[in-house]
Amino acid sequence: MNQKEILEKLESEVSSIQKIGELNDFKVKYMGKKGIISELNSKIREIPNEEKKAYGEKVNELKNKFNELFETKKNELEMALLNEKLKNETIDISLPSTRIPMGNPNILEKIIEEVEELLMSMGYDVVDGPEIEEDRFNFELLNIPKGHPARDAQDTFYLKDEEILLRSQTSPVQARTMLEKKGLEPIRMICPGKTYRRDDDDATHSHQFMQIEGLLVDKDISLSDLKGTFDIIAKHLFGSSTETRLRPSYYQFTEPSVELDISCFKCKGSGCALCKNTGWITVAGAGMVHPNVLRNCGYDPSIWSGFAFGFGAERLAMLKYGISDIRTFYLTDLRVNKGFDRIEVQND
Ligand code: DAH
Repeated sequence: MNQKEILEKLESEVSSIQKIGELNDFKVKYMGKKGIISELNSKIREIPNEEKKAYGEKVNELKNKFNELFETKKNELEMALLNEKLKNETIDISLPSTRIPMGNPNILEKIIEEVEELLMSMGYDVVDGPEIEEDRFNFELLNIPKGHPARDAQDTFYLKDEEILLRSQTSPVQARTMLEKKGLEPIRMICPGKTYRRDDDDATHSHQFMQIEGLLVDKDISLSDLKGTFDIIAKHLFGSSTETRLRPSYYQFTEPSVELDISCFKCKGSGCALCKNTGWITVAGAGMVHPNVLRNCGYDPSIWSGFAFGFGAERLAMLKYGISDIRTFYLTDLRVNKGFDRIEVQND
């Protein structure tokens, strides 16, 4: 073995290496299974005993030298690579950043949340019901039997025969809740949700819209409880100077039935286009739960009484945000949500 020659070769070869790949080849050439240094190492068996020690030391020296050269070169190449990368990736921190567009909550959702929060603070539960509903819940239990003309007002999407439908109102959730409570406990619930009717879409109609249903069942509940509750909701949504009135109406599932009106927040009652010169704006249908409905749903009307109401969520949002077309809510243009400033609600 010419150790000196190999040492020189190691040094000269390593100095010409430029890439990690070449460095790996270099390793294979000397230290691989059949590498030059590995072969010298395995030859130790053939060396006479008295020379073994000196021979072994020389091979070790070669190994150590190789490792030292290899590591130094490896660090050097990795450093060069890193520097190259850093050079290409320099960031000019003085450049202006790209603005990340912020989302806005949907105004319809916002108004629903507002009503939910208020009523939850008054002890109401927020419940959910199916949008694909049975005729029984949507109509029959609510005192609207098959063939009754009251059904005509709600042009319904039937999915299967006359039994399965897309709910035309959120009122079926009243029936579901009462049946669930089995006539045993008082109820305070609201149910915001989607409803469907076979309406032609125009500025004030949409085949899909949202209602917020409310139901309170307890003992000794009267119309004045409804009026008081409505008053709180109206003032919360439209400002503390808002006045409310109940106007007689007709629904199959309430007796008596009323429309809930608020004083026009725009003209303060003096008459304008928004309130059609009446000074009042209707925002919900409501009434005292009809004894038949209580009975149908397992509540004894001689013990229990209650009120119910149904707000049109779009209508509330349209009034509150000054939107004139219901279709606005169902556009996919995100700018829509940015474009509406809420009317200022003054709460003192
Ligand atoms: N479900 C009625 C509708 O869609 C609205 C309504 C009226 C709901 C009176 C009620 C109620 O809970 O008591 O026109």
